[in-house]
Amino acid sequence: MAASEALRARFLDYFQGEPQLFRAPGRVNLIGEHTDYNDGFVMPAALEYQADAAAARRADRMVRIRSLNNDKFAELDLDADEHTPRGDWTDYAFGVAVMLERAGKHLAGADILVSSSVPVGSGLSSSAALEVVVGYALLSLAGHDVDPVELAKICQQAENDYVGMRCGIMDQFISCNGVEGHALMIDCRTLQGSTVPIDHKARIVVANSMVHHALADGEYNRRRQSCEEGVRLLRTALGEIRALRDVSFEDLEENRDALSDVTYRRCRHIVTENERVLQAADALQNADLETFGRLMNASHASMRDDYEISCEEVDILVDIAQAQKGVYGARMTGGGFGGCVVALVAAGDVEAFMENVRAAYREATGHTSEIFACAPKDGAGPLRD
Ligand code: GLA
Repeated sequence: MAASEALRARFLDYFQGEPQLFRAPGRVNLIGEHTDYNDGFVMPAALEYQADAAAARRADRMVRIRSLNNDKFAELDLDADEHTPRGDWTDYAFGVAVMLERAGKHLAGADILVSSSVPVGSGLSSSAALEVVVGYALLSLAGHDVDPVELAKICQQAENDYVGMRCGIMDQFISCNGVEGHALMIDCRTLQGSTVPIDHKARIVVANSMVHHALADGEYNRRRQSCEEGVRLLRTALGEIRALRDVSFEDLEENRDALSDVTYRRCRHIVTENERVLQAADALQNADLETFGRLMNASHASMRDDYEISCEEVDILVDIAQAQKGVYGARMTGGGFGGCVVALVAAGDVEAFMENVRAAYREATGHTSEIFACAPKDGAGPLRD
């Protein structure tokens, strides 16, 4: 049975009415980590792992949602006086409903069945995929056109203000705006995305470290605070800068004394990472995979040493990946403290790469890494087989 047919059949097990079907992908980020909330540059691609939703309009204003991933059910009354986050997976879905209404999009009630293949806690944006697919479904059922950039912003707002995670725009933006066969270089200040071709000679390969350290969310918000503090302190010397995007490496070096060592290193990661993304985009345009790979390796070192968002297992996995034949470069991808590593690998070496990395990582850590090669997909939309 086709995936859409199976989802429709499951919907009818739980709800009534003829559902419409939607999808929203997870993502892998090739380079540009933690730069998004500094008004900087990122380069993600949408994955074939995605959140699917079957959804039907209701006559009232209840949003009822069931997940096939955890077999849980919850409901939200759009007309309730107050909407209180529950501290679980439903916040991603209901947060989007609440923020859509707050943005003036009047919604209809809906029955929604969701099913996601994006592994949770892997740094591949399972939460953004869930937010975007629910937002897409709610807008469509209520008869609104979907503006992908606007939807991305509203989903980010749901995560910031309802879930309480101060994430940037990258994950929601790529889930809404991905382009098949391409990575997208996103300017997170202007929200302009430009497609970047991936040369046929290479494949993007993702390897999951299978670890996820629980402190991640608090540490994420703390990194953000360090960046904000850096901007505040650098303003004395540099004038009206808005974000670390406006700071050059030379500016930073000249004013190093104004910052504590930790804040300086956090800022140095962002400033150099922005520069790396711009160089990486040029490299891909020129099919210069060697340069691209070197930038990926430098990005990992910067995350490990300056931003301090890697962890032992991820560093081991990156070292193993970088040592393989046919590898241009490898780095951690996503928010940090576990999750996945992304590598760029010569097409002919991908099979051996996956086998060797799996074996060496198991030997070193006891974890069996899930590894796959990606073919970038389109952003969110109706689900078709
Ligand atoms: C998480 C956030 C993104 C981004 C990355 C790090 O995925 O949701 O906004 O900051 O971490 O690059």
